This record gives sequence, C-alpha cells and structure tokens, in this order.
Amino acid sequence: MHQALIETISAATGLAQEEVKKALGRPKDLSHGDFAFPCFLLAKELKLAPAAIAQKLQAELTLPGDITRSVAVGPYLNFFLDQSQAVKTTISEILKSGPAVGSQPDKGETIVIDYSSPNIAKPFHVGHLRTTLIGLSLYRVYKHLGYNVVSVNHLGDWGTQFGLVWAGYLEAGEPSQFTLDDLVGYYLAANKKKKAQSDEQSEQDNDSGEDVTGVARDYFLRLEAGDEEALKFWQRCLDISVSYLKQFYDRLGINFDLYQGESFYRSMLPGVEENIRASGILENSRGALGVDLGKKLGFARIFTEDGRSLYITRDIACAYYRYDTYKPYKILYVVAAQQMLHFQHLKEITKRLNHPVADKIIHVAFGFVPGMKTREGGAIALKDFLDEAQQRALAVYTEQVDTRPEGLDEKQVAESVAIGAIYFYFLSHSNIKDFQFRWEEALNFQGDTGPYIQYTLARLYSIETKASAAGLSLAEDFDATLLKEESVRELVTKLAQFSEVLERVARDYEPNYLAELLLDISRCFNRAYRELRVVGQETALAEARLALFRSVRYVLETGMTLLGVPPVQRM
Ligand code: ARG
Repeated sequence: MHQALIETISAATGLAQEEVKKALGRPKDLSHGDFAFPCFLLAKELKLAPAAIAQKLQAELTLPGDITRSVAVGPYLNFFLDQSQAVKTTISEILKSGPAVGSQPDKGETIVIDYSSPNIAKPFHVGHLRTTLIGLSLYRVYKHLGYNVVSVNHLGDWGTQFGLVWAGYLEAGEPSQFTLDDLVGYYLAANKKKKAQSDEQSEQDNDSGEDVTGVARDYFLRLEAGDEEALKFWQRCLDISVSYLKQFYDRLGINFDLYQGESFYRSMLPGVEENIRASGILENSRGALGVDLGKKLGFARIFTEDGRSLYITRDIACAYYRYDTYKPYKILYVVAAQQMLHFQHLKEITKRLNHPVADKIIHVAFGFVPGMKTREGGAIALKDFLDEAQQRALAVYTEQVDTRPEGLDEKQVAESVAIGAIYFYFLSHSNIKDFQFRWEEALNFQGDTGPYIQYTLARLYSIETKASAAGLSLAEDFDATLLKEESVRELVTKLAQFSEVLERVARDYEPNYLAELLLDISRCFNRAYRELRVVGQETALAEARLALFRSVRYVLETGMTLLGVPPVQRM
C-alpha cells in the first residue's frame, strides 16, 4: 500500500495505521483513482453521514507529495497518484530487488508446514495432489517473506491399516518380491474382504476364512510391540513407497526438509498416554478410551480398547514434538476438509491438556477435485498422470504456438508446460472450492492458465533479447515521464501490488491470490506490449520501456516460481 497516505489518513482520523491499511482499497476501475478510503468506518464515531465525512476529509487532508488529488465519491474518498512518480518508484524498487522482489528480511520465526503426507501402501488420491501443490507454494511464500520454514511429509506409515496390507500379503501367498502396486492391491483386497466379513457377521454367518480384522489387529499389535518379523515387512513397505514417491516429487520440483511419518512418533506414544491419563480427562466410553469434548465435537477416541494407538494419538505426540523442537510461530496442516473434525479434536484435546501447542495448530483445509478418477484398484498412477500431462502439453504446444524457436528440446518444454499447467490450475481455485479437473482448461495457451503465464514470460525474454541485439541496455536512470500510456498505469498498478498480495497469501493461506495477480499482470502486459514497442524507438523511450518490461519479468518470474510453475525462457 501507500505508507505516507496511510499515515496521513491515520493522523487526520485518529484511526490506527493498521486499521487504515486494512480499509484502504484499490478501485477496480482506475478512472476512479488509485486508492479508495471508505468513510463509513467513521460514521458512528463522528455521527455524520459517510458522504459528508468524505467531503470533510477531502477539505482537511494535506496530501503526500506523489498524490495529486483526492475526490469524494459518495461514501468514499478516492486518491490519484502522480503517474510518473508512481511509475518511477515502483519500477526502480523492483529493479533494485531483482528476483528477490517482494521478499522480506529474516523474521526470526519458524513455521512448520505439514503437507502432502500420503498414506503408505494405500492409494494416493487426488486430495494428496492438492495438498502437495498448495503446501509447496505456501512453503515458498513464507520463505520469501522471511520465515524460517520447515516442511514435513507426515507419511501415513503407521497404523492398523498396515495390518490389512499384511493380511492381503498373507492371502497372496507371501510372495518374496512385490511392488508398490502389489502393496496397494494387498490392502484393497484385504479391505474388501474385511467389509464382506463384517456384512456377513451382521447376518450371523461368518464362514469366509480367517477373520481379516483380527489378523490386521494382531499384526499391528505386534508392530507396536516391536516384533521383528512385523517390523521387517513394514520397513519393506516403507522403502518401496518412499522411493516411488520421491520420483514423483522430483518431477514436480519438490523437496521436503523432513520425511517424518507417523511411525517417527511411536516411541513417544507411552509418554502421551501417561500425560493424558495423568490429566484426568481420559474417559472410558463403551470400551473406547478417549475424551468427551462436548456436544459439538463429541467423543474423541484416543486409544483402542486393546491399547493400540490411533491416527490422533500419533498427531498429539507429533504436535508436542514439533512444539518442543521448533518453538513454532504456527504449525500448518494442509489437509483435506474431510479431516476438519480430526483437527478440531486435536486442537481441543491439546487445549484441555493445557499444552501451548493448541494455539499453534492451523488446519489449512481444501475441497474435493472430482473428475480425476484413479485407476480402478490401484494408486492414482502418478507417473501415468504426469506422462499423460506431458503428452497433452506437447500436443497443445505444437498446435497452439506456431512461432516456436528453433533448436529447442520440445519434450522438455512440454514437461515444464505440463507441470506449470497442473500447478496453476490447482492453485487458481481458492482452497475450499471443489472443482473439476479438465485438461482442456488447464492446458490452454490463451486461457487463464499456467502455460499462458509461461508464454508471457517467454515473450518478455524475447523482447529483452531483441533489444540487446539492437544495442539497447537496461538504464536504471530511465525517464519515467516517457511512460505516459494508460496501459502502463494499469500494468504498474498491478506490479505495485505484488508484496501486498504475498502478505495476503500468507495471512489467509491462499496461493490463489497470487495466481490471480499473475494472470492480471500477464493480461495487462499482453494488451500493452504492442503499443509499447522497444526496438526502433528513440533510445530514451526504448530504455524506459525496457525498464518497465524488466520489472514485469522479475515479478512474473518470481511469482510463478513461488507457485511452482516452472519459468520457461524460450518456448
Ligand atoms: N496421511 C493423512 C491422509 O492421507 C494426512 C496426514 C496429515 N497430517 C497430519 N499431521 N495429520 O489423510
């Protein structure tokens, strides 16, 4: 925002600067001004109609030097920036920061982000793709804003479901070799049998062989007790799954600071149990051990009757551990909205245990993505999915882009386009929205897509290459008074919002705001650049435009990197 303006309004109205900052808006239509202050905020206190307050303020305010005028429009007081000053400051600041545009100095605070976190040997579903993409962009944005960020993949690598994998494995005759697909198959087969058996049981007719639920439970009891054979099988499952997942993460450009799955906390479970028992909040309700959290949240089971730990038991241990290890400012759990109740339980239980971690727990919930079907009976075939994306990207690229530079590895371009399309499509919806995944929408070079932004970036690079071939270079002391066009004003207004938008992303955990801004910038640029020729103009004008375009390039390139959309220089 505009700090001097915020201070001026704050001094004149008595509102705190924070409040003014929050209220000060940017009109959609620039002909209404660059900033708008809603005067109804003051109506109650001043006992005046908002429109009258706008008039009064307009008469009283001494405007900061780069604001040329203010206009009262109904309940709003609108402010107009001096274009050449605004252009000069915005561009100069961006050029000075370069790719670090929008970044902030070290805040000395740590944020833990728990994301992706798939379940081992269970199907990887689309929800996991969504947490992976949201989580990575939040991770990068917080880093950029000066936080110390720790990313953790909280793999679902412990729990009674391993008993099901084991049961399925026994059923399959204990083969000596198996793949991830096999493991998922064991799990699914055993799960199916378990369901069938429980149906039969309700019909009092249980004759389909060994009781799967019992086998699974016994296996997990052995695992928690540290039985060697049980551990050996579990370790193999873990190794196979992690090496498969890592290939997938590599392709998406993702690295975790830590792979710390649920099993990591197993040695801490007895301590948690002791702590909960000592607190006196543990109750026995019809054989289950847990905490009664009242009408709204209900009874939260914490242990099974035979003492096995549950998902939430391990999450309590994990929350304690994260608190002790990182003294975090926040812990974000990027997990599907279906787990809302789980995280409400986690927060409430730790609160009742009087543990300070309760205030740090933030569930960043997100909605469904129907329409992306997983292969029947198997994990969402991640490799197949990315391969299909690449093939489609190549087809769209060769079809929609007819002036393709020579000597490019088009397959490599297609891989970047595919990844960019997926990231951008997922992140262009607000977290909580459900959406259908449609290839045609994600991969259109003319649409609101990742490829459109990548293509815009490539165009910016090409302008710079041509300019330097024509002997032009970037001049830091460019003459901003030459950048008079309305299209420049629009573009610069958008660029100036970059830092603000990053802060809003961090505040609301919504990478979607950044996706929107990058689209706006790309659209403004693509409308403007034909009118703003560089090569063939007077040197001073060409250099001023070049400075503008370089700053667009920095913002776009940094912004897309924060979203996970690979920057492509030539395409
Ligand atoms: N493994 C879980 C799932 O796939 C997500 C784990 C999220 N993180 C956590 N600390 N509970 O649903």
